[in-house]
Amino acid sequence: MINLKSILENFQNDIDQAKTLDDFNRIKGKYIGRKGKLNELFKEITQLSPDEKKEWGKKINQLKELIESQLQEKLNELTHTLKPSKTVDISLPGKKPWVGSFHPIQITLHQILSIFQSLGFRIESGPEIESEYYNFEALNFPPDHPARDAQDSFFLDQEYLLRTHTSPAQIRIMKKLQAPFKVVVPGKCFRRDAMDASHSPMFHQVEGLVVAESVSMGDLKGTIEVFARRFFGNDRQLRFRPSFFPFTEPSAEVDISCGLCQGKGCRSCGQTGWLEIMGAGMVHPKVFEAAGYNPNQVRGFAFGMGIDRAALLKFGIPDMRWLFENDMTFIEQFHAIQ
Ligand code: DAH
Repeated sequence: MINLKSILENFQNDIDQAKTLDDFNRIKGKYIGRKGKLNELFKEITQLSPDEKKEWGKKINQLKELIESQLQEKLNELTHTLKPSKTVDISLPGKKPWVGSFHPIQITLHQILSIFQSLGFRIESGPEIESEYYNFEALNFPPDHPARDAQDSFFLDQEYLLRTHTSPAQIRIMKKLQAPFKVVVPGKCFRRDAMDASHSPMFHQVEGLVVAESVSMGDLKGTIEVFARRFFGNDRQLRFRPSFFPFTEPSAEVDISCGLCQGKGCRSCGQTGWLEIMGAGMVHPKVFEAAGYNPNQVRGFAFGMGIDRAALLKFGIPDMRWLFENDMTFIEQFHAIQ
């Protein structure tokens, strides 16, 4: 008849000698695999009477459980003692951690803001989605000004648009703070410009605003001069050109002598020897009125500069598109600069 005991003994012999996972799998297949010994036994007992079948079936199942538990033990033993086939080669150089760097716009922004902070300015912010009122009307833009046209600005609906400059923050800050104060407001601005070497539909500005009982054009000039010398270097010349902005009177545009040709005229400065860095002026009485101030009691000066262009000038980058292409070979060159 069926000799379960000898099957168990053979199995134990086999499993005691198993040294590898291959041995283990072979033995497992031999006894409890689909074509293994136990399945053969189950087939054999189909010839027996129902009672005998039941009795032997039970015994074979018990044997199967025993074999399975011993297999599991062996598997644990093998997997815990097996050495990994790959060892670590400690003579290989380590992997260098990747160190990030600041974007040239962030570096420029940080330098600009810290100069103004050292002059006593505080940093404020304004929303990128502005109402037509704050962006234009409160700043004394006439209703037919081209920037108010849907072709020139990104309008979201009839009332709201992506701010075209940081100047609307002037009104918000005057409403929020009490004069006297000195603030700078950095942020993103948006205009419907096609991207080229010197334009981008999204760009950055820093707005400056000083409001006090008595500040003059002389204070504006002095402040801008200190800033420009610290930011661009002592060797650069500065000039103020009369200009026009609806929210300042008088208004000026500020130019700095070209660093490439030292003011002699080259391709970079359009042969003029000068590069425009910002707009500025004395706060217009209408702007004070819109912010709820009495223009007879306060004076103020304001300025607004493009950070992206300042970054191009500062680092000698020839094309504004490079700032926004996220090309790592470009960005990584700013590693060392904070
Ligand atoms: N907002 C102006 C622009 O985007 C720049 C500007 C000019 C800002 C004169 C000022 C200012 O604060 O006084 O072109």
